[in-house]
Amino acid sequence: MVVPVIEIIPSKSIRSDAEREAMLADPGFGRYFTDHMVTIKWSEKRGWHEGQLVPYGPLSMDPANMTLHYAHEIFEGMKAYRHPDGEVATFRPEENAERFRRSARRLAMPELPVEAFIKACDVLVDQDELWVPAHGGEEALYLRPFMIATEVGLGVRPADEYLFLVIASPVGALSTDVNKPMTIWLSEDHVRAVPGGIGDAKTGGNYAASLLAQVEATTRGCDQVCYLDAVERRWVEELGGMNLYFVYGDKIVTPPLTGSLLPGITRDSILTVARDLGYVAEESRVSVDQWQADAENGTLTEVFACGTAAVLTPVGTVKRTGATWRQSGGQPGKVTLKLREALLNIQQGLVEDKHGWMHMVA
Ligand code: PLP
Ligand code: COI
Repeated sequence: MVVPVIEIIPSKSIRSDAEREAMLADPGFGRYFTDHMVTIKWSEKRGWHEGQLVPYGPLSMDPANMTLHYAHEIFEGMKAYRHPDGEVATFRPEENAERFRRSARRLAMPELPVEAFIKACDVLVDQDELWVPAHGGEEALYLRPFMIATEVGLGVRPADEYLFLVIASPVGALSTDVNKPMTIWLSEDHVRAVPGGIGDAKTGGNYAASLLAQVEATTRGCDQVCYLDAVERRWVEELGGMNLYFVYGDKIVTPPLTGSLLPGITRDSILTVARDLGYVAEESRVSVDQWQADAENGTLTEVFACGTAAVLTPVGTVKRTGATWRQSGGQPGKVTLKLREALLNIQQGLVEDKHGWMHMVA
């Protein structure tokens, strides 16, 4: 497949240094966006074509655009980090590119070649490099590649035209505050995904399905929802936007990829980092009753959630109907902190990248 050329059309009105610095000083998550975006079109007739880097700005859309009605949408999330030498690198972008292709396949959307995905991200990071936060904190530039249908019509079918875009947002430590273990609401009424469904694709529909349970969680004083399998309502799957790990002393366990949870790249990386550090790392099922019993009898020493946005975040308290429990006294556990530091050190370029995970951009 031919990788489209990306024509550079820079903005004539980029933000001033002072404006940008003010945003970088307190970025939050997904609040501010950089000066540019990348777009690549796809049509049945022409395939991938017209790659462009253009000023960031609104899209003009027909009200009968198919995406607005039937959710032909997939996305990715990855980060660009500034290393101590000033260079900028992304973490395992080929994994995001491959997952994007799998998501596309599941939604009968066109598959963007891996090289085109990586190139689009690189071009944007290179152009908006000043938006990559300075080395030293936990800030990074979050990249959001995504694809929507651009065909107009109300028939339910795959579209004959799509648009791939990449936008970028500086993000801070806010969503990664390791000192604030999360409180989780275990949803036994709502499910996120079903066998044979779209749970393992990164598509907006899965997040739409999570919103009501998230509201319930918030009204119960919880930060995130934990979903169980849809059939038995017994096996722990994942959170709305993060995978989960259970720590039993020197052993860490994460639920297997059943098809209804997202194959997280952080999840996968932690399996390797943990083994590098001498821990036993396993993929096996954990039931909600076992979670509660093991936390209460103390064999379960820590639980943490992980993802690109969340990095590794401890889970302090868990609530389900009729019960509340804690693990590691509701505090961040030592295995969680050790794995978190080991992963961040690789991403931030502080240690040797022995698995070849970092992709140098600018
Ligand atoms: N699970 C869900 C539902 C997510 O949205 C995410 C975030 O991308 C993850 C898990 C973690 O995936 P990754 O580590 O690739 O960011
Ligand atoms: C990420 O961690 O990249 C995510 O996409 C999670 C959430 C913001 C949807």
